[in-house]
Amino acid sequence: MNGFEFQCGTKMIFGKDKELCVGEELKKYGASRVLLVYGGSSIKKNGLYDKVIHALKEAGLFFEELPGVVPNPRVSLVRKGVEICREKDIDFLLAVGGGSVIDTCKAMSFGVYYEGDVWDLISGKTRPGEKRIPVADILTLPAAGSEESDSCVISDETIPMKTGFGSPLMRPVFSIMNPELTFTLPPYQTACGCMDIMAHAMERYFTRTPNVEMTDRVTEGILATVIHNLPKALENPRDYDARAEIMLCGTWAQNDMTGCGRQQDWFNHGLEHQISGFYDIAHGAGLAISFPAWMEFLSDKQECIPKLAQMAVRVWKVEMNFENPRETAKEGIKRLRSLIKESGLPLTLSEAGIGTEKFEMIADLMTNKGTHTCGSFYPMNKGDILTLLQMMA
Ligand code: NZQ
Ligand code: ZN
Repeated sequence: MNGFEFQCGTKMIFGKDKELCVGEELKKYGASRVLLVYGGSSIKKNGLYDKVIHALKEAGLFFEELPGVVPNPRVSLVRKGVEICREKDIDFLLAVGGGSVIDTCKAMSFGVYYEGDVWDLISGKTRPGEKRIPVADILTLPAAGSEESDSCVISDETIPMKTGFGSPLMRPVFSIMNPELTFTLPPYQTACGCMDIMAHAMERYFTRTPNVEMTDRVTEGILATVIHNLPKALENPRDYDARAEIMLCGTWAQNDMTGCGRQQDWFNHGLEHQISGFYDIAHGAGLAISFPAWMEFLSDKQECIPKLAQMAVRVWKVEMNFENPRETAKEGIKRLRSLIKESGLPLTLSEAGIGTEKFEMIADLMTNKGTHTCGSFYPMNKGDILTLLQMMA
């Protein structure tokens, strides 16, 4: 196990009706002028919007609203939010929604204190400073884990490019998580969210760092819990217990607890961000296509087989084939593919309506025209990425 520092100060407020306390909770953290940020119509349709407005009024808080966050959130809205914060002297950001809404608030929170264009921070041209407006959230979609993570991902649709930045100061101060708020999620979003949660667990699991048993086993627990509860949530969207298990997994898969003391991979997220930068596919759907294909690619690499087989045995309950561990690994990948298919997610780019035309460009962008590799569990060069993209086609 490597040495590490880990600090996650986000207060998790979890359970039924917890969103009703949002106004009072904001006041405890010194909020007086709040910007309420949300996406499209989902929070209005399910009544959450009215509850939040009521709670803010009851608490006597001044608030402005910024609706319109879209999946693969746009920098144009972040810029608009930065202007509102400055004009209205906003001192607290409240995100009500999924990862896209929370990420928009995170980018705005640092953008307000940066004199140049906020894209400089997002694209990594300038490092974020120490000052930011605090962010809190009411989570409606367990997936990205942004409710406790220290990073955000934003798209500039004009380039097009999707990228992100982070800071230890970026974690929300509190996150309200009521599993009932996820009852209205359509099956496709539920499945995309679960795939993203599994991907966050696996990006950390596939490591070359030896002796990380405790975090391996926590990760396996997260994966097994999602695998058990996703079909239940799809069958009965109002299954509180299944929704609650998935919600907790989403946070703990991405707050980096399971990343402690190990090198992490993140190749698949790098690839997915390129794909969703070009094609506006849901993040979880992109990961559903890339992850099993990448594992299949690695199952031919001798050094990767033991970890793939370990996951197959411990998570997918495959019987270990000691004579041919590659077969064990492949059976695990097959079971992952079955779950993805049964959940209604795509397994190939063509199923998602994506062609081969950008393959060369994606491989170039990921490897700086073939001069770098990507990922650490198995460093992928440009040729590897092109082969993988063909496997995903
Ligand atoms: O806009 P509305 O109408 O609210 O609809 C949303 C949106 O269309 C809908 N939705 C959310 N909660 C709902 C609901 N519909 C019905 N009932 C509810 N309770 O779901 C759609 C997708 O929302 P979005 O926020 O885009 O999804 P998600 O939470 O999966 O976030 C994805 C974004 O997070 C980034 C991804 O790249 C992507 O841009 N990520 C952020 C990370 C982080 N900050 O740590 C890490 C992740 O790996 C990821 O990259
Ligand atoms: Zn993700």
